[in-house]
Amino acid sequence: MMVLHEAAEVARPVDEVFDYVSDFTTTAEWDATAISARKLSPGPIASGTQFEVVCALPVGSVTLLYTMEELRENALIVLSGRCAFFEVRDTITLSATAGGTLIDYRAEFDFKPLVAGIASLSSKGLQQMGRESVAGLVEALADNFPLRATSRSTRAADRLVLPGVTLFSRLGYTLGRKHFNPMSASVRNTHMLVTGASSGLGFAAALELARRGAALTLVMRDRDKAQNTVAEIQRETGNRRVRAEIADLSLMHEVDALVARLRQRDERIDVLINNAGALFNPRAETAEGLEQSFALLLLSPYRLTEGLKPLLAKAPSPRVINVVSGGMYSQKLVVDELQMPDDQQYSGSVAYARQKRALMVLTQEWAKAWAGDGIVVNAMHPGWADTPGVREALPQFRRLTRKILRSAEEGADTIVWLAVATEAGTVSGKLFLDREMRPEHLLKSTRESEGERQRLLQLLRGFASAS
Ligand SMILES: NC(=O)c1ccc[n+]([C@@H]2O[C@H](COP(=O)([O-])OP(=O)(O)OC[C@H]3O[C@@H](n4cnc5c(N)ncnc54)[C@H](OP(=O)(O)O)[C@@H]3O)[C@@H](O)[C@H]2O)c1
Repeated sequence: MMVLHEAAEVARPVDEVFDYVSDFTTTAEWDATAISARKLSPGPIASGTQFEVVCALPVGSVTLLYTMEELRENALIVLSGRCAFFEVRDTITLSATAGGTLIDYRAEFDFKPLVAGIASLSSKGLQQMGRESVAGLVEALADNFPLRATSRSTRAADRLVLPGVTLFSRLGYTLGRKHFNPMSASVRNTHMLVTGASSGLGFAAALELARRGAALTLVMRDRDKAQNTVAEIQRETGNRRVRAEIADLSLMHEVDALVARLRQRDERIDVLINNAGALFNPRAETAEGLEQSFALLLLSPYRLTEGLKPLLAKAPSPRVINVVSGGMYSQKLVVDELQMPDDQQYSGSVAYARQKRALMVLTQEWAKAWAGDGIVVNAMHPGWADTPGVREALPQFRRLTRKILRSAEEGADTIVWLAVATEAGTVSGKLFLDREMRPEHLLKSTRESEGERQRLLQLLRGFASAS
């Protein structure tokens, strides 16, 4: 048997360290050898929960199956792991200290006869790996990562437009994730609201945020879907603090009623995620006489966010996340053309991209106006993700790009990062893709004037006061 033993103190409360480490999927963020990790068992993390961890070892890539053997809250985490070459027992003991938490990490390896000889020869290398892993854990828990500046290669790709657009594919996520920092910030005491959580990116983001322990209000329009969504997220994560609100967000009287209900509950909102969306063909108007894309993608998040501002202002460090689209790069803000009144000229993709452009402008305007209230407002675009929305609205596009589309989880990753990561709360009014700041324009011709930005605000305020 070979034993690795390391100890380190971190300046984090013991419950936060326990939450982070007992979710062994985080091993991919701090273990020097882990490439990816996922939880295999549904429900809360408990004795018996299984994890799959893929490690890059000197023998090649190895998949380990870990089982939680013992879990004592804020005190002890014991996992056993096995693969074709060895078995390992990790014992992590936590104790509160005056300055935070002492972590004692012990890993006992039992190598299979075939590799035992090689292992004993590379004992020094293994000890080094153990030290690096604990150092990685300490760094992850220190949670002191700078916001990543846009890399030179991304800037170059964006300047050439087409290479920049290829980063919308799965390739962009694969390249981007190499630079992701650990996310150890605790969201256990936060309440987040996600619109459009019944499918696609909204569902993926809600599931991950629930897994991390946030209390969630999920806004959905269909009561049955809402019930199923809440039940599935609760079953998968064991997080019971997930509830649904029903509202058709393309109807302003339903948005207003939702705001009124939430204001009545008076529960602070730490993070508001404006995600609900759709691409509409042919042109149609809502029962309230508004063109559908304008109503759902722009006026609705405007009205919801303005209405919920008092609840955001109650949070210690509130964040608003607007889900826009790379499609906006093709459009300039022209306020008079937002509702595309001419049926002949209507294109669902253009109408969609115009609202997303306007939502980006709104993101910047809110960021400026609310800086004094401490409300951080950012936008993200998910790249091209394979979701029910894309399947329904863009079947041709999906047929052509199916092989390079991201998964919904990959597309939603930056939503989760903007909601959770400490460094994501240090900047406002920006656009992100794959946790990296990106330009709001790729073409000079889409830049709007200051006058047009002000006209947009006037237009939206006009609708708000019309009710
Ligand atoms: N997937 C991509 O590649 C991509 C790219 C760029 C931007 N986006 C943006 O990402 C966001 C999520 O899109 P997605 O791809 O995940 O699409 P999706 O799978 O169709 O999910 C959209 C969500 O919005 C909800 N929604 C639609 N209309 C609504 C309404 N009137 N009231 C309330 N909720 C409504 C849907 O509810 P139902 O289940 O009831 O329909 C669903 O939960 C959208 O804002 C979209 O524009 C996506």
